[in-house]
Amino acid sequence: MSAPWVEIRNLSEHEGREVAIKGWMYNKRSSGKIHFLQLRDGTGFVQAVMARTDVPEETFLEAKGLWLEACIEVTGVVKSDERAPSGYELNVTGLRVFHNPQQEYPIGKKEHGIDFLLDNRHLWLRSQRQRAVMKIRDQVVWAAREYLHGQGFLLADSPILTGSIGEGASGLFEVPYFDEGTAYLAQTGQLYAEAAAAAFGKVYTFGPTFRAEKSKTRRHLTEFWMIEPEVAFYDHEDNMKLQENLISAIVESVLENCQAELGALERDTKPLENARAPFHRITYDEAVKILQDLGSTIEYGTDFGGDDETVLTQQFDKPVFVECYPKKVKAFYMKQHPVRDDLVLCDDLLAPEGYGEIIGGSQREDDYGLLLSRIREEGLPEESYEWYLDLRRYGTFIHSGFGLGIERLVSWVCGLHHIREAIPFPRTIYRLNP
Ligand code: 4AD
Ligand code: MG
Repeated sequence: MSAPWVEIRNLSEHEGREVAIKGWMYNKRSSGKIHFLQLRDGTGFVQAVMARTDVPEETFLEAKGLWLEACIEVTGVVKSDERAPSGYELNVTGLRVFHNPQQEYPIGKKEHGIDFLLDNRHLWLRSQRQRAVMKIRDQVVWAAREYLHGQGFLLADSPILTGSIGEGASGLFEVPYFDEGTAYLAQTGQLYAEAAAAAFGKVYTFGPTFRAEKSKTRRHLTEFWMIEPEVAFYDHEDNMKLQENLISAIVESVLENCQAELGALERDTKPLENARAPFHRITYDEAVKILQDLGSTIEYGTDFGGDDETVLTQQFDKPVFVECYPKKVKAFYMKQHPVRDDLVLCDDLLAPEGYGEIIGGSQREDDYGLLLSRIREEGLPEESYEWYLDLRRYGTFIHSGFGLGIERLVSWVCGLHHIREAIPFPRTIYRLNP
C-alpha cells in the first residue's frame, strides 16, 4: 500500500510511520552522502533528510538536480527531532517530481527592495514571513466572525456597486452603469447595515471597500476589507463597549492560536497581551490639548494627521478612544452631540505603538429633519438618499455602529511597518498588478 498523503501540520499524528508530503522545496543543503530538503506545503515547514544509502541511486541524483521551488512529493518516515522547528523530520524513502523549474527562482536569499517584492507578490506570498501574516489575518477574521455570531449578530452583506455615497464625495471610484448612469464602488457598507439593523436588530457587513484617495501613507490602501457592525438601540456608549470587547476577543484569539506566527514575525506580544477592555478614553478636545502640549501645530477644529495619531498613541499603553469630533470634519450621518451642537457622537479607536486609527464609529442621526439638513449642507444628491431617509420616516430608532479596518488591525497585531503586507494582493494608487 502506498504511503498516505499527510499535511505537514499533522505530522505529529504519524510518528514512526511512512507518509507522503506534497509541496515545494524552498531550500536545499547537500553533501555527497545526504540531501536536506526544506519543504513547505502551506500548512507548515519540515526538513526531509535523504541519505544516499536509503534510496535508489537515481532518486538521490534526481534530488541533487532539484531547483528551488520544485514541486514534489516526498515519501518518508516521520521522526521526532527536538532541533527541528516543527519538532519533526522526515527520513526520505522516495521522491516524485511534479515540476522542476530548471531556472532560478526570482526571490533569492539576498535582500530585495520592496518594489521588487511587490512586483513579485504572487511569489513573495510563499515566504515564511508572508505566510505568518496571512495566517494571523485569517485568525483575525475568523475571531471577529465568531465573536459577532456568538453575540447574536446576523451577517447582512451590502452591495459593492452603489448609487449613494457613504463617506464623502471625494475619493470615489466611478463605474459606468448601463442606463442608470454612474455607479460607485462602496466606500462603506454602513448605510445598508442601518437598513438591515431596522430589519434584524444586530447585524454586520463584511466586505471589500474602496477609496480613491491619493494617500501615499503606510496606512492607506485603495481597496481594503471592513467589518461593520450596526446595532439597533445601541447608543454611543454601548457602541464603544462593543468595539473594545470585539478587539479584545480578536487579539486574545490571535495570542491563543498564532504564537508560532507571532514568533516568526518577531512580534513583541506584550502590547497585545495588554489590549484588554476597558480601553482608554479621551475626548477630541483633550486630544488636541495633549498634542499641542507635546509641540504639535494642530489647530482646534481640524482632523488629526497620521503623525498626530502616531504621537498620540505613543502616550498610551493600550488602545485609546478619541470621542466627539467636530461635526465639520466627520461624515453627514453622525448624530449631533446633545449639548455641544458643533460636535458629533462619534469615536475613533487608535491602536497603540504609533499605529493609529483602526476603527471609526458613531451613533447615527435618527432625527429626520436634522439628517436631511446635513445631506443638503454636504451637497449630496438628495434623491439617492430617499431610501436612507425612509429609515427615519418609518419607525426611526436610536442606533450605532462602526467600521473596523481589517488591514489596519492586522498591521498592528503583526507589528508591520506598512499596510501593504497585511493583504494578499495590495491595491494602492501605484499598484494594480499582480
Ligand atoms: O473611519 P471610516 O472612514 O468609517 C466608515 O467608513 C464608517 N462608515 C464605518 C461605519 O461606521 N460603519 O473607516 C473605517 C475604518 C478606519 O478606521 C480604518 O480602519 C479603515 O476603515 N480604513 C482604511 N483602511 C485602509 N486603507 C484606507 N484607505 C482606509 N480608510 C479607512
Ligand atoms: Mg475614520
